[in-house]
Amino acid sequence: MAHKEVVLRTKDLKAHYVLDVPGGKKIVKAVDGVDLEIRRNEIYGIAGESGCGKSTLMKTLYGLVNRPLRLINGSVYYSKDGGAFDVFSLRKPELRRLRWTYMAYVPQGAMSIFNPVIKLKDTYSDFLGSHLRGKTEDEMFAIAKEHIDQLGLPVSILDAYPHQLSGGMRQRVAIALAALLRPSVIFADEPTTALDVVVQRGVVQLLKDIQMSLHNTIILVTHDMGIHANVADRLGIMYAGKIIEEAATVEIFKNPLHPYTQFLIDSLPQFGDTGERASAPGQPPSLADLPTGCAFHPRCPKAMPICKVEAPDMTVKGEHRVACWLWDEGGVA
Ligand SMILES: Nc1ncnc2c1ncn2[C@@H]1O[C@H](COP(=O)(O)OP(=O)(O)OP(=O)(O)O)[C@@H](O)[C@H]1O
Ligand SMILES: [Mg+2]
Repeated sequence: MAHKEVVLRTKDLKAHYVLDVPGGKKIVKAVDGVDLEIRRNEIYGIAGESGCGKSTLMKTLYGLVNRPLRLINGSVYYSKDGGAFDVFSLRKPELRRLRWTYMAYVPQGAMSIFNPVIKLKDTYSDFLGSHLRGKTEDEMFAIAKEHIDQLGLPVSILDAYPHQLSGGMRQRVAIALAALLRPSVIFADEPTTALDVVVQRGVVQLLKDIQMSLHNTIILVTHDMGIHANVADRLGIMYAGKIIEEAATVEIFKNPLHPYTQFLIDSLPQFGDTGERASAPGQPPSLADLPTGCAFHPRCPKAMPICKVEAPDMTVKGEHRVACWLWDEGGVA
């Protein structure tokens, strides 16, 4: 059962890419008003189609906001030692100290980040050497070996070069490395994408094992609702830079309220399926040129006149939140 202590909180978080284009600026509203309360001891999933801003949200939560990305509004508060800190008010050295020890980030495509000419044990030594002072090479190797072994990965991978391992194993090593210093919060961006189904299972199990042993928080981004169904305790559905629905994963699948969430669930392959699955008609909007009102209205089978005009606020129904006029006080459910 998830503990309700909040570890990460945002309010109206906005981060936009501000691009110079001939004759002016182009603004890509990748994170555009996100409210989150992510708890200790949970796997929080973030789902949504390609281009809806998931990776940008991860980077922003991790405090990695570099040009052309800019923080436009809001703060990202983390709880720590009975207090809280805003990731954007930290100085660079403080932020560096917290990275990997308090919060760790496995970026999208992490399996290709390893240096191809360095054996994995040397990657581990470099990493440990920069965080644990005063350890000998042998001690660091012993820590790396124990860690790898505890996570059920073969210790022999430490003697391998990255290219000698499969993509799935590289991904697991990237995740294992992120967990090495027992961080309270781990961000994992599309860790299963581009892996086949059997290998995905190993990656998913590793994430679950890490969360179970550290009792920490894992924020898992994937567009794959099947993975979320297996791993996430709670789920935030993202569309056009916003979280448009949030609930316990079981509740989302049992009782999806937003028509977009319904589409995501309907597009999952079903047992015995032969034909094409339903998908939302059309494409997600350009985040540089959002539709008026609710950004989903041009694709929504239930769109009402108000949806074109005004964006809905979040309606809260206990632990279930949804931003949709169908469920708003003024809408018709
Ligand atoms: N460095 C950048 N400069 C300008 N625009 C960017 C940059 N990175 C991302 N974008 C734009 O921001 C929007 C959100 O991108 P983001 O990568 O966050 O989406 P995503 O949900 O992670 O997509 P995917 O599922 O494909 O990984 C997209 O329109 C993308 O083109
Ligand atoms: Mg992404």
